[in-house]
Amino acid sequence: MRVSVIGCGHLGAPHAAAMAELGHEVIGVELNSETCRILQSGKGAFYEKGLDELLTRHVHSGRLRFTTDLAKAADWADLHFIAVGTPLREDGRGYDVSQVIGAIRSLTPLLKRPCTIVGKSTVTVGTVARLQEIVTAEAADDVDLVWNPEFLREGHAVEDSLRPDRIVAGLTSAEARKAIEQVYAPILDSGNVELIVTDPQTAEILKSAANAFLSTKISFINAMAEICDLTGADVNAVAHGIGIDHRIGHGGMRPGIGYGGGCLPKDVAAFTHRVGEIGAAGAAGLLTAVESINDSRMDAALALVERAHDGPLDGAAIAVLGASFKAGTSDVRHSPALRLAGRLHQIGARTVIYDPEALDAARRLRPEYAYADSIASALDGAELVVLATEWPHFTADLQLPSQAATTVRRKVLVDVRNAVDTAAWIAAGWEVWQLGRPAQRPTT
Ligand SMILES: NC(=O)c1ccc[n+]([C@@H]2O[C@H](COP(=O)([O-])OP(=O)(O)OC[C@H]3O[C@@H](n4cnc5c(N)ncnc54)[C@H](O)[C@@H]3O)[C@@H](O)[C@H]2O)c1
Repeated sequence: MRVSVIGCGHLGAPHAAAMAELGHEVIGVELNSETCRILQSGKGAFYEKGLDELLTRHVHSGRLRFTTDLAKAADWADLHFIAVGTPLREDGRGYDVSQVIGAIRSLTPLLKRPCTIVGKSTVTVGTVARLQEIVTAEAADDVDLVWNPEFLREGHAVEDSLRPDRIVAGLTSAEARKAIEQVYAPILDSGNVELIVTDPQTAEILKSAANAFLSTKISFINAMAEICDLTGADVNAVAHGIGIDHRIGHGGMRPGIGYGGGCLPKDVAAFTHRVGEIGAAGAAGLLTAVESINDSRMDAALALVERAHDGPLDGAAIAVLGASFKAGTSDVRHSPALRLAGRLHQIGARTVIYDPEALDAARRLRPEYAYADSIASALDGAELVVLATEWPHFTADLQLPSQAATTVRRKVLVDVRNAVDTAAWIAAGWEVWQLGRPAQRPTT
């Protein structure tokens, strides 16, 4: 099939590359000419595992190309994916849907043949009905609108685009269903992926509910961490023990500094606002609590650093390992790691940040912070090490505790992701502090 992907950011670029990998001919449309140039050179404009390989392969094979010219795509493709951004409005009252409305308003008058518009961007319930009005007013009758929310996880975006755990399509016509079945045929034919066909409003709520549930799980275990901190109990053991019940599970159950990134914070905030607006008071109350627990994690992490440090933080040399909002991506949008580094910076600590992939993005966003180009130079002379993003470079390298021990001034690790193998660090002489757990020290 000939498909276009309109908006080639963190969702659109992996999706376009995956569509080419599945055998489609693909044109990516990206407004930002610099991003478009980088993509057309066969590289991602950001780090995402496996993305560069896929882009290189398919840009070179000619099956994938990028343009800033929407008219080229409108003329050529049978199906148009919309993958533009839906940031939170500045006043926090729901999404700013101007990119989605702008993309659809620009596309519809250019469509000269039967086709399907497939929205992947995350929107709150009621938005697709507004967009349908635009399509009905401005496009011919043979143009269908489908809402096909995306569930990919950054850090696994390529894998999740090629092998999604579900495909959800909110649609209203048999032709639209046929188009969805055709474009996803290479995935659906495997027999392992469920296609959930529903109406647009159910698709909108299904996506919002998925992110609301994930964030609720994260805030729930973080609330348990708060209780454990006050009672001397161990939240890791609590998370493990309750997760054995398969109705609860272990996924999303690692306590820590809270969720961040380009999706969960804005999606939960937009959903909270929307459910309040439509009068679902119970749901709004639940989601407000989830958000406020998440917000409180920054103070909890800062308090942990204060407890771990022997003396005032003002002037203390602190190595911050991690800048991206999670491992596997260079995305620093709403990164808890960078926020914590910022709080430490504000109170006068001499922080140096290292990240294996997100240094450029972090420098662009926060040029006022200090960065190191290697883990060794970040650790050099540190009085305290904060593990702020759970990269395997920091958590799975069993040599790191002993190597790091030789360059720091004090062997104190504050792991705000509860992610390290504490035994390995303690064996190398480190004191390890994690959220919701008593401090662990080497026995002398
Ligand atoms: N990032 C994720 O992992 C993820 C996962 C699931 C859903 N989503 C949803 O996908 C949507 C996109 O998110 P993102 O993280 O990729 O955002 P992003 O900001 O990284 O990418 C959006 C891109 O769209 C481009 N754009 C905007 N208007 C355009 C237009 N008219 N024509 C062409 N390009 C245009 C922008 O220049 C930008 O590059 C959001 O609704 C988000 O909630 C994202």
